[in-house]
Amino acid sequence: MREQLQRIAGEAMAMINEVQDMKALEELRVLFLGKKGKLTGILKGMGALSAEERPVVGQIANDVRNKLEDEISRIKGKLARKIREEKMKRETLDVSIPGTVIPRGRKHPLTLVLDEMKEVFLGMGYDIAEGPEVELDYYNFEALNIPKNHPARDEQDSFYINDKVVLRSQTSPVQVRVMEQKKPPIKIICPGRVYRSDAVDATHSPVFNQIEGLVVDKGITMGDLIGTLQIFAKSLFGENTKIRLRPHHFQFTEPSAEVDVSCWACGGKGCRVCKNEGWIEILGAGMVHPKVLENCGIDPKIYNGFAFGIGLERTAMGRFNIDDLRLFYENDMRFLKQF
Ligand code: DAH
Repeated sequence: MREQLQRIAGEAMAMINEVQDMKALEELRVLFLGKKGKLTGILKGMGALSAEERPVVGQIANDVRNKLEDEISRIKGKLARKIREEKMKRETLDVSIPGTVIPRGRKHPLTLVLDEMKEVFLGMGYDIAEGPEVELDYYNFEALNIPKNHPARDEQDSFYINDKVVLRSQTSPVQVRVMEQKKPPIKIICPGRVYRSDAVDATHSPVFNQIEGLVVDKGITMGDLIGTLQIFAKSLFGENTKIRLRPHHFQFTEPSAEVDVSCWACGGKGCRVCKNEGWIEILGAGMVHPKVLENCGIDPKIYNGFAFGIGLERTAMGRFNIDDLRLFYENDMRFLKQF
């Protein structure tokens, strides 16, 4: 039995020393020292020994057990160190290596100008309203006093989805949606995309942006409209900017006007940008037509108001001195990086 123990001890020591990982080491521990292990197996046969032999063999068995346990824990420590070292090596971080540069984004020039415009109108107490881009013909035309077959529809060649649904050709339908929902006083702007079946050139695009404005209250005058537009024009194009109203016709305002600002390039003297006019048209405006108020359930005998529609691209072209509207949509980084 002594030899048996010695042999097992030798065998175990050799195997333990060869072990390369924790799992194998644990397997060996079970193989030799576990409940059904080889050492335990031998000890079970101790009953057959004589009374003198038993304590001696027991002592040897204990020594073997202790020796194996010590060796196992020594190897365990060695493996743990090795694992830790490998992990450290894997995770070394060279803080001196230059990082990956993530290019910083910036706002699109149209967004920059829209932000400026919002700032101006929010400062005057306006709220921001929204409406759908896929709009009912009723809101885009009918309710704005533009009945079917009216020639005013031709000016806004529209994309129809079906008889009743159209891609809105102007932001004016939001006026109606707001007035249906809210009683005066109303003071809103509505920025958004609009659609017209126009061919693309330096000043036209089938998709562009407008900013609608609407004020409805008691005793609103044309003077209020002009004052508001003056503040807007000066804020965007500079203190010396003047505005000019030319009589015009819109179905949903009476009286109506087209509004020009003094040329941002030459200040009004006449140049290439303003085609020697000294003025550049940027918006339409007028006093809200009584019929439109009525269509929205607002009594025109009590309330009145003004409205305007500003072209965002036009304004941005002026603000940044850009001569071709297509630049806004081409996503050319050489252009966009300049803002
Ligand atoms: N909706 C008009 C257009 O797209 C612009 C406009 C003119 C809006 C007069 C208005 C307004 O609110 O009062 O041509």
